[in-house]
Amino acid sequence: MSARGPVQVRASVLSLKKVGAYHHLTLVAPGIPERTRPGHFVTLAVGGPDSALLLRRAFSAYRVRASGAYGGTLEIVFAVRGDGTRQLAALRQQDEVDVVGPLGRPFALPKEPVSCVLVGSGYGSAALFTLAARLQERECSVHMVVGAPTEEQLFGALEARRTAQSVTVTTEDGSVGIRGPVTGPLPDLLARTGSEVVYASAPVGTLGAVADLAAQHGAWSQCTVETPMACGIGVCMSCVLPVLGDDGITRLLRGCVDGPVFRGDRVRWEAAGA
Ligand SMILES: Cc1cc2nc3c(=O)[nH]c(=O)nc-3n(C[C@H](O)[C@H](O)[C@H](O)COP(=O)(O)OP(=O)(O)OC[C@H]3O[C@@H](n4cnc5c(N)ncnc54)[C@H](O)[C@@H]3O)c2cc1C
Ligand code: FES
Repeated sequence: MSARGPVQVRASVLSLKKVGAYHHLTLVAPGIPERTRPGHFVTLAVGGPDSALLLRRAFSAYRVRASGAYGGTLEIVFAVRGDGTRQLAALRQQDEVDVVGPLGRPFALPKEPVSCVLVGSGYGSAALFTLAARLQERECSVHMVVGAPTEEQLFGALEARRTAQSVTVTTEDGSVGIRGPVTGPLPDLLARTGSEVVYASAPVGTLGAVADLAAQHGAWSQCTVETPMACGIGVCMSCVLPVLGDDGITRLLRGCVDGPVFRGDRVRWEAAGA
């Protein structure tokens, strides 16, 4: 039986590279790869033991390798946003990082080999590659739409070409691929491929639009949602999101333990983040 549940490990930096607008961090993090499923996230302590930055920062798992020359590795892709991510961007090889993971509920996989569309925006695309591999193991066909505001903010377009049956690239400024939002090609793609499931990793506004388009085409959608997180383990309620239950009642669910993956048709997107 495979290992389950989160662990806390002292990871060490194997490499940190700049990729376009992002940083690609590879950590030797024994115990985490074998537990991680597509859609899981990890939290990293930032700034060291004397830091005033008390809260861990959450990141989606990009790739995991359970074994290898250096032991199990975990890769994340991040954008510098504030002090915490700035500290991470300054890490050096062999620095230690305290990691907790994997956390949250992963993507649900279809039982049958169906056609799936995966929509990623910006660094959000990184969360979709292990999912694409799992879907293909189940003989699902995988069509990816990878978008960003600009070419620099695109992540994984080449990797998507190596991975998926079809890839559509979009940028809002038209610097590469189709000009416009990542949702632009979706109606045509859904109609052409007859896809039954849509997976999305993107900012909240985009996720709402993806969920609506999927529903219009009779497809089931699953979205990984970034909510502001403090504890990451279900205690503080800083990450809540309004989600409609089977009984028709909307409840505030926690992004960190009830998510970060939610059914797109169940999230009250108009109220998310309010
Ligand atoms: C499930 C999940 C997966 C994520 N995956 C990625 C990823 O793969 N790559 C990536 O670049 N970013 C990702 N993020 C966002 C990332 O957590 C924030 O960019 C980061 O916490 C910002 O920290 P900071 O100190 O640089 O910024 P600051 O704005 O200074 O952060 C201050 C505080 O606010 C919280 N916070 C601020 N913005 C966010 C946010 N959008 N989401 C959650 N907490 C926030 C931080 O935890 C921190 O405690 C993810 C967030 C979640 C919830
Ligand atoms: S981040 Fe504390 S409950 Fe989710």
